[in-house]
Amino acid sequence: MKYAIITGASKGLGESIAKRLLQEQIAVISVSRTENDELKNLALEKGSEYKHVSCNLSLEKEIQEVFMEIAHCIFEKNPTEILLFNNAGVIEPIQKVGNLDQTPIIRNIKVNLIAPILITNLFLSKAQLASTKVTVINVTSGAAVRSIEGWSVYSSSKAGLNMFTQTTAIEQAELNTENIIIGFSPGVMDTGMQETIRSSTEDAFKELEKFKEFKEKNMLLDTDTVAHRIVNLVLNGSPESGRVYHIKELIEP
Ligand SMILES: NC(=O)c1ccc[n+]([C@@H]2O[C@H](COP(=O)([O-])OP(=O)(O)OC[C@H]3O[C@@H](n4cnc5c(N)ncnc54)[C@H](OP(=O)(O)O)[C@@H]3O)[C@@H](O)[C@H]2O)c1
Repeated sequence: MKYAIITGASKGLGESIAKRLLQEQIAVISVSRTENDELKNLALEKGSEYKHVSCNLSLEKEIQEVFMEIAHCIFEKNPTEILLFNNAGVIEPIQKVGNLDQTPIIRNIKVNLIAPILITNLFLSKAQLASTKVTVINVTSGAAVRSIEGWSVYSSSKAGLNMFTQTTAIEQAELNTENIIIGFSPGVMDTGMQETIRSSTEDAFKELEKFKEFKEKNMLLDTDTVAHRIVNLVLNGSPESGRVYHIKELIEP
């Protein structure tokens, strides 16, 4: 049996990934601060295994406790494969350097970068003792490779996540494991994160008008479409470990 752990499955892209996997009869463990009742109902309807675990990913002690428990429960079932989607993310603080507040800076780096590192480290450590393949999908952003004024913290966290992905992939190849780790840049999607972006100010974020236009002109990607593409790659394709995929490269079969 395959198990998927998805952080940030309560809404947005994570919710769409969870829905698709439940439809594929893959057991899903959703991790976020709030629960999504639609996922629970879909799992019941499809007869798929589903569990929500509450965790604040900006608190490292909580991460350690929650994910040790999740790993323990999954590995004892001898799964054929574990899919780990490090998807949860925060865009804030949107502000120029010099005007940033300390608390949102630290929260951003913890949720976007430290949490995926801690969780991946834990699962790859457990995988050494079991004969279970682990596939890690780190959801990154185009902002990791393009400087966007006002997004210095977000961009830095995602650039760090890309480097973590690439380095881990090299190490796993060297160790001759079956494990795969990829990055996935999902494009600009119609989610709560974009609402937060549109509610910022032009003083803090130079490209505000452009992002407002994306919404007005219906140019935002739908999360179900994006989720199908990344899930198709992971389930039916041959993802290349260490590569950071962009949504544009993933053509619908
Ligand atoms: N939307 C875009 O245009 C876009 C573009 C490029 C990349 N991305 C990336 O895509 C991923 C998904 O983004 P999205 O647009 O779907 O975001 P979203 O709709 O804002 O959802 C964010 C998810 O992250 C979870 N989360 C946030 N802070 C958390 C915390 N402290 N502890 C636990 N969970 C937390 C939220 O769950 P709770 O609130 O329930 O805790 C929620 O499920 C992110 O990594 C984002 O950086 C998005």
